[in-house]
Amino acid sequence: MENINSKIRDCYANFIRVMSSEKPYSSSCDRNRDPILKVLQELIRDKHKSLLEIGSGTGQHAVYLSKHFPQLNWFCSDTADKLAGISMWIDDSNSNIKDPLEFEIMKDEFPKGSYDLLFTANTFHIMSWKHVQHLINLSGKALEPEALFLIYGPFNYDDNYTSESNENFDQWLKDRDPNSGIRNFEDLVEEMNENSFEFKKDFAMPANNRFLVFEKH
Ligand SMILES: C[S@@+](CC[C@H](N)C(=O)[O-])C[C@H]1O[C@@H](n2cnc3c(N)ncnc32)[C@H](O)[C@@H]1O
Repeated sequence: MENINSKIRDCYANFIRVMSSEKPYSSSCDRNRDPILKVLQELIRDKHKSLLEIGSGTGQHAVYLSKHFPQLNWFCSDTADKLAGISMWIDDSNSNIKDPLEFEIMKDEFPKGSYDLLFTANTFHIMSWKHVQHLINLSGKALEPEALFLIYGPFNYDDNYTSESNENFDQWLKDRDPNSGIRNFEDLVEEMNENSFEFKKDFAMPANNRFLVFEKH
């Protein structure tokens, strides 16, 4: 069960690993990678060539998921402090993922390149709403026409939580950083629409998560 306690445990364990230069590890990635893969297999077509992942975290999703899409160039990105850990996962895999890109939203420029897929997992509730808006704005300018913008994580609907565990998780997030928190689906759709993205599909995922699909016009 992917609940608040396991998320807190993951954060702490990662901190210890990074401090001791061990490869970072997230147990929630192991739990959610196959449900995410199933949705990606529905969405990713042979025509798709280049995926940019935002907030790759440990790099586990990238090395696991990218192997199922050999036609894709998968680019990881995250803040500078995460890049060494991502590289450790890439080096230990036989994937063809290139070195992770440094991309801290509101600090760095959007990674150069031509991307027809953008994927991000568990990031919109971690960064502030301003960061989310900034990423959407940059993506609206930078992504290719018909690019898919794919977002995995917890969301509220009409400002209501979908579960008690999400409500507890949101409280925990806000105690830690008042600018973080679970985002409202309707606000996100509005922001995406204003930046050339059309809402396409909302997949229900295990542990009260969602997988949202938007397409650029
Ligand atoms: C909860 S982790 C999710 C990691 C991974 N995607 C996963 O699902 O396991 C949130 C990630 O967002 C990244 N992040 C937070 N603020 C960011 C920012 N301003 N720009 C880019 N990435 C950011 C963090 O560094 C972290 O890797």
